[in-house]
Amino acid sequence: MCICSKMSAPMEDTPHDDVCEIEATVITGFENVAKEEAEEKLKVPVDVKRGRIAFKIPTADVKKVLELGGIDNCFVVMSRFPDVNFTNDELECMAALRKIVYTVNWKLGLAAWSNVYSFPRPISTTPEVIPKDLGEPTLSSRFHRPNDPSQQRGPKLSKSEKRKLRKKQAWERSTGQNVQQQKERKKVEKAEDPNNGGSVDESSSVSSDNKSPMKSGDMSENLSENVQTQLRQAESDPNKTVESDPAEAVESDFSPVSKKQKTTEHDPNKPAFRVTCNRNGGSHPFDSMGAASNFGGAVYNYFHWNVSMKEFDIEVILNIDDRDVTVCLGLTKQSLHHRFIKAFGPTALRATIAFNMLRLCKIEPGEVICDPMCGGGTIPIQSAVSWEDCTTLCGDIIHKAVKRTTENVNYVSQTQPLSVEVVRWDVTKLPLRTESMDVCVTDLPFGIRSGSKMNNWRLYPGALMEMARVCRVEKGRACLLTQDKKCINKALSVTAKYWKCRNMVGFNMGGLAACVYILHRSVEKYNAADAAEMLSTALLQAKNKEAGSPIKTE
Ligand SMILES: C[S@@+](CC[C@H](N)C(=O)[O-])C[C@H]1O[C@@H](n2cnc3c(N)ncnc32)[C@H](O)[C@@H]1O
Repeated sequence: MCICSKMSAPMEDTPHDDVCEIEATVITGFENVAKEEAEEKLKVPVDVKRGRIAFKIPTADVKKVLELGGIDNCFVVMSRFPDVNFTNDELECMAALRKIVYTVNWKLGLAAWSNVYSFPRPISTTPEVIPKDLGEPTLSSRFHRPNDPSQQRGPKLSKSEKRKLRKKQAWERSTGQNVQQQKERKKVEKAEDPNNGGSVDESSSVSSDNKSPMKSGDMSENLSENVQTQLRQAESDPNKTVESDPAEAVESDFSPVSKKQKTTEHDPNKPAFRVTCNRNGGSHPFDSMGAASNFGGAVYNYFHWNVSMKEFDIEVILNIDDRDVTVCLGLTKQSLHHRFIKAFGPTALRATIAFNMLRLCKIEPGEVICDPMCGGGTIPIQSAVSWEDCTTLCGDIIHKAVKRTTENVNYVSQTQPLSVEVVRWDVTKLPLRTESMDVCVTDLPFGIRSGSKMNNWRLYPGALMEMARVCRVEKGRACLLTQDKKCINKALSVTAKYWKCRNMVGFNMGGLAACVYILHRSVEKYNAADAAEMLSTALLQAKNKEAGSPIKTE
């Protein structure tokens, strides 16, 4: 069977092994900031895609990519397979995916990988004996519910119908109702699975439905999935052995194989791997679990690497976007935003967002940077680390937050010199001289987990006015992050004499539509009497709001 309808080999522009293509994920909205950074630091042209940037660099320079401040995860692209011949037949699709393993440029991927990670033994880029076949394709429908209308290709259900159906299914599962249906389903799954050799542990198989990170709702909506799957394929073959890692206990719960069957045979000469599949496009007859499982099974049959979901050396990433398949190796084992913070607060910001906010301010050497509402200190720590030749200071009204920031600053100081002044203060009455700051970068309380929407009506105008006082006229900038757009807009209108909004970057922050506002300080000198008058009008309006209809807290 032909893998692709156009061609079965990687694209023509597959890089030579001394140059590789990197894709890096970026918080959607900050792609252009990340592109600018990558072009400046890596000196290569960068393409922007939604939520990612892509570029080619010498394979030897791969490690430099991990020094970029604005990216979250990055991968080396081994091969692209455009227009894969995905038919309506699930088994055919799985067979096509398995075949891809033969033509992936493992040599390129492992060359890039070995510039970041190491393994005590050499990792062969091709097996000693190329296996004639990479195992039988299996149905991902072991995760489907054949009797489940949301899984069948029937008339489309409305959102509320889907919701009702999901609730019903959850209730049925939790109460053990519809047992007959479950039994039928198990029978079908058993019959459909050519790999289980009749040895499926039925209760595990059922629990897979309940414990899998892919809920039935995710499946029925089916637009974008990101599922990391241990290679059930390899596990479910009774002739093969897999490592039994206690850390994988949860994962093994949704293995369709009886736990008794697992034996430990970890080959220390070989690396451990896992496959992660990201699937986009709703028209596939398979899910990402099935795709990762089949692809992983084929990789296992090809290299006989060890399998480990948590303790992996190598992460193979299978991106399926409609009919285009890209196979990558992960260069980050956890997102790069997990840096600096030891003492977490309720609203800790991702370091990558902090970095991108700081970059949007176009900071120059010697400038003074201030985060007047620092929480746990992500912004000031990122500022002090990446803009060493600047002065960073920060503060918060809450004693606990000041303590957390200090703890985090001390933590980072253990590995690199860091200078951050941390003070307890009120942003509306900063103990700072007028026109003493160049840049204010802060993450305002949204009024959801921190503060309240009502309080924001007073806080935001007061904060912006005080930042206008302490920032240098004409030269000063501010970068403010919030989700409370009504309040920030009101505060911007109150302080319009001092702040001009030059740019806004909207992005998704944990499901909330957040926005970063880049403000430039006008030439207008701060006038205390004027400011007091403007603020008192704003505060009066806020009071009237309090007295009148309550402001919704969303
Ligand atoms: C969204 S949190 C900041 C989170 C921070 N970026 C982090 O990464 O942890 C907003 C912070 O503003 C602080 N805050 C609220 N009102 C303030 C005020 N009047 N003066 C100074 N800080 C204030 C809160 O205590 C809270 O820590």
